[in-house]
Amino acid sequence: MSQAEQKRIAGRAALRYVENGMVVGVGTGSTVAHFIDALAERRHDIEGAVSSSEQSTRLLKERGIPVLDLNATGELALYVDGADECDGHKHLIKGGGGALTREKIIAAASRTFVCIIDPSKRVDVLGRFPLPIEVIPMARSYVAREIVKIGGQPVWRDGVVTDNGNWILDVHGLRITDPVALERELNQITGVVTVGLFARRPADIVLIGAEEMR
Ligand code: A5P
Repeated sequence: MSQAEQKRIAGRAALRYVENGMVVGVGTGSTVAHFIDALAERRHDIEGAVSSSEQSTRLLKERGIPVLDLNATGELALYVDGADECDGHKHLIKGGGGALTREKIIAAASRTFVCIIDPSKRVDVLGRFPLPIEVIPMARSYVAREIVKIGGQPVWRDGVVTDNGNWILDVHGLRITDPVALERELNQITGVVTVGLFARRPADIVLIGAEEMR
């Protein structure tokens, strides 16, 4: 089965967590795009969605799903999003698509975080996928030097500006055996906006797209 088909299966499987009247938090990426397609079939049952990116907002609106402001909705019952890596504790690396800050805000504001992935995202130890870190532009070089001190190799995602007007460093060479501690440590560096480690607030449920879920 192709990876695209695995993503489609995972995306559709998350629909079972959607209940009538809900406001659904919606992540970003190619797996989430399948979830949005499935959610469109339930658009008359739900109140709307809170979107984690301009990309997902466009997809939601194209499919007739109202996009709501998190400040107006308050806590969400459900957030559905993909990931770049997922370990056995449901700790994640996210931000490959650059939407990590809004994704992390919605994850924090949601009671249940359902993560949808294809099997290639499952790892024993996080860190093979370079860890995205969103930074205030003027702090890029300073933050990069601080990251080198703790053993990472930061690479500027040149040319990319996030939806929030910031820049991204992709940190290579980390073997993340204690994701909660590393997330805390990186969050302390001045100029860091968001660390793409979702460990202090991990996923609650992970759906891995596979044949038997059809
Ligand atoms: C977006 O910033 C990321 O966190 C995505 O969730 C992640 O890149 C997964 O993307 P795919 O579903 O396209 O693999």
